[in-house]
Amino acid sequence: MLSPGLRRSAPTRGRDGGAEGEAREGGPAATRVRSQAPEEPVLLSAVDPDACEPVPTGLTELDRVLSGGLVPGSVTLIGGEPGIGKSTLLLQAAASAARQGRRTLLVAAEESAEQVRRRAERLGALVADCYVVATADLQTALESVGTIRPELLVVDSIQTIGDPSLASQVGSTTQVRECAQALAHYAKVTGTATVLVGHVTKDGVLAGPRTLEHLVDTVLSFDGDRHHCLRHLSATKHRYGTTGEIGLFEMAESGLVGLVDPSAVLLADRRRGVAGSVVAPVIEGRRPLLVEVQALVSESRSTSPRRVVQGVPPARLSLLLAVLERCVGLSVSAHDVFVSTVGGIKVAEPACDLPLALALVSAVAGVPISEKIVAFGEIGLGGEIRQAPAAGRRVSEAARLGFERALVPILTPPPAGRIEVIQVATIAEAVSAVDLADIRHLARRPDRSRTLGGSTQGAEGHGESLPGRPVAGRPPRPAVKPRIGLSVVRD
Ligand code: TYD
Ligand code: MG
Repeated sequence: MLSPGLRRSAPTRGRDGGAEGEAREGGPAATRVRSQAPEEPVLLSAVDPDACEPVPTGLTELDRVLSGGLVPGSVTLIGGEPGIGKSTLLLQAAASAARQGRRTLLVAAEESAEQVRRRAERLGALVADCYVVATADLQTALESVGTIRPELLVVDSIQTIGDPSLASQVGSTTQVRECAQALAHYAKVTGTATVLVGHVTKDGVLAGPRTLEHLVDTVLSFDGDRHHCLRHLSATKHRYGTTGEIGLFEMAESGLVGLVDPSAVLLADRRRGVAGSVVAPVIEGRRPLLVEVQALVSESRSTSPRRVVQGVPPARLSLLLAVLERCVGLSVSAHDVFVSTVGGIKVAEPACDLPLALALVSAVAGVPISEKIVAFGEIGLGGEIRQAPAAGRRVSEAARLGFERALVPILTPPPAGRIEVIQVATIAEAVSAVDLADIRHLARRPDRSRTLGGSTQGAEGHGESLPGRPVAGRPPRPAVKPRIGLSVVRD
């Protein structure tokens, strides 16, 4: 329900920021803002597409995720763990917008105006045209909005602002829904780009009613490890653009700094010569990123071994383990398996299958894969490596960062450049190409003992050992002799 206060105080402002309502007094708010009532049918071809043109905030990484910027009249919900940097990001965005001459208002429901000012000073974000009101009361907030008439409104947070006229407690489902509805109505009526900060639960899910996500136009997720400086912003819903882009920031002394070369930052802490590590060139939105995929496999003390996955879909790990058992003879049924992507980057695309599979094989073998290799390609149920889009950009990014070899799906056209490209048709070929072919001999020992790190002798191989097919640079590498200690583990 829309609160009476909103009806009273909702101002109207044309797209140029002028108080259009003053010129057209009398009618209901919605008709005062728009020349045509929204519910009136019009020819599709006559609809003005510029009405939902994004306006850049000036923060490149934020604008990238928003497909250009914030659309006037849109409502964006940004969720993230406490302390991740939501207030910092939005203060920087507000200051940046204000610097461009766009009036902004911050409704600080969790902090005092003095706290916000101190942070603004630290961030170099103390600019003209940026207003703050410290209140947790919806009516007071709406009255301030009516007075200031901002083009950009930030409410921090939607869980701490409340309407005392409602019986339920601040932060309750009803309060969150009603306040969000009132603010969303205000945004639509006046064309104000509105950003709501949302808390997330322990599981990383946005707290509050599910309807909150339906009510807004855009849902952003701000993630990262609070103890590390890397932060990533992504859209899980976006009515005005794509949801594939990712924005990357570093939390520095002076606030959030957009990353100019994210691949280099993501690989900065990489340890060389470690088993279970492979770099995946992934495509996030339109941008290639080099992400290290790590796997750790250890003997389980439990009757139901653990599968702990971070950054890749758990279903992909299950599938890959099944394919690896079938096609390469790798069984980890009595082992705990841990998989993660470094930097907390979430990789949903199947092109990450091949690097993940190789990381698993390397982890089981305890043998590092050359640190100069990248790999990508989707793995099918039969162990075949399928093509991945934007292969050229992936390989170029790897070459730019100094990688020397790329394992790619068989049909990938060899891109030009200073990197050896090895086409692989199956997971077995890929395993051979990184000198781990003999893991299969070790994985299917007839005695099926239960240890990792045991003898390398007496293994019985199965399946073919095919080297990869280099299409540029060096000749094929022969499969090496067993040099690892492994015996696996079957009931
Ligand atoms: P904050 O934006 O308050 O997080 P949220 O709103 O998501 O709870 O930022 C919290 C952390 O960010 C805080 O612990 C300190 C750190 N920080 C910096 O490292 N540099 C800065 O310039 C700022 C403003 C904060
Ligand atoms: Mg905050």
